[in-house]
Amino acid sequence: MAAETVKVGIIGCGNISGIYLKNMSQVFDILEVVACADLLMDRARAKAEEFGGVKAVTVRKLLADPAIDVVVNLTVPKAHGEVALAAVKAGKSVYNEKPLAVTRREGKELLKAAKAKGVLVGGAPDTFLGGGLQTCRKLIDDGWVGEPVAAAAFMMGHGHESWHPDPEFFYKPGGGPMFDMGPYYLTALVSLIGPVKRVTGSTRITFPERLVTSKPKSGTVIKVEVPTHIVGVMDFANGAVGTIVTSFDVWGGRLPRIEIYGTEGSLSVPDPNTFGGPVAVKRGRGDWAEVPLTHGYAENSRGLGVADMAYALRSGRAHRANEQLTYHVLDLMHAFHDASDSGKHVMLESSCQRPAALPMGLREGLVDE
Ligand SMILES: NC(=O)c1ccc[n+]([C@@H]2O[C@H](COP(=O)([O-])OP(=O)(O)OC[C@H]3O[C@@H](n4cnc5c(N)ncnc54)[C@H](O)[C@@H]3O)[C@@H](O)[C@H]2O)c1
Repeated sequence: MAAETVKVGIIGCGNISGIYLKNMSQVFDILEVVACADLLMDRARAKAEEFGGVKAVTVRKLLADPAIDVVVNLTVPKAHGEVALAAVKAGKSVYNEKPLAVTRREGKELLKAAKAKGVLVGGAPDTFLGGGLQTCRKLIDDGWVGEPVAAAAFMMGHGHESWHPDPEFFYKPGGGPMFDMGPYYLTALVSLIGPVKRVTGSTRITFPERLVTSKPKSGTVIKVEVPTHIVGVMDFANGAVGTIVTSFDVWGGRLPRIEIYGTEGSLSVPDPNTFGGPVAVKRGRGDWAEVPLTHGYAENSRGLGVADMAYALRSGRAHRANEQLTYHVLDLMHAFHDASDSGKHVMLESSCQRPAALPMGLREGLVDE
């Protein structure tokens, strides 16, 4: 029997909001987007016009609407904490775009407030629930590579000022390649291997200014306020050792996105900023073999984590892109920077469970069987 729909209000109607609106109103049966808001009312109106049944309202009105169960917070990183806290205080569950918040303090405050209010908090990325990364999860859980020994993750690029219409936030606190792209890589690694207990790292800023070449802000110069090349080493709680490099300072590379190395074999993990494959495995001295995906949601399924949260709200089960996972990832990203600043290893204060794997064979639009 179909569960009663969960009503969603979106705050932040910028670049990424279109795919959320599309998937939440057209793919996931349990979700019903009823309202959207933005500081810039025109943006909210434009999205409401594009997607029927959605009202454009002010943020204040959206938060005061008793019909809305979940706020999907698609604002810029520096507003994530404040907007989410206001939503929680209004009695709403919240799904934030990444990162969960900018500072650990904001993140902790949000988790505490959600607990007190009895609402759920979590957020992006939900790519770890996609067909590609769920196939990797199944291969690891079924023992195809043995016990994880090591992992490597690389995000090598030159930043977003050549294409994003408003790229300033990528170079301000809450931005930089680790806070912008790290959540995809770290969430995938934690889902596949488990939580991290200790890190070290080194960071640098190569270009103190960035010239915007995308429209409409072409010619604007952005002052870079955060490290733009971050190298990290992770000791996972289960003993595996990981390395990660995230960079906006290089012109690309040919390193893999993620590889996981086990006692019995190696796993080639797809780009964690996508939902699909390819997935390949190498057992012992054998050759690499591409593995067909075992799970659905291999297309851009942003909103899958919101749908999962909605099922959790209806059934009382745990949700996957949850507060422990998103906070652990936030803590980790800070820890690499702290380690670099202090010249020491940093012990993680937070931890989390690996979120449950998704069931196989789900019908399109469903998250529970
Ligand atoms: N653009 C992408 O490809 C992409 C992909 C994945 C995730 N994200 C994440 O999604 C989030 C939004 O990114 P974007 O690219 O859509 O940015 P954007 O700048 O295009 O849109 C953000 C919107 O939020 C609004 N906003 C800011 N503060 C607000 C507040 N306090 N209250 C209400 N509205 C507010 C802005 O007016 C703007 O319309 C970021 O966290 C980003 O990391 C973006």
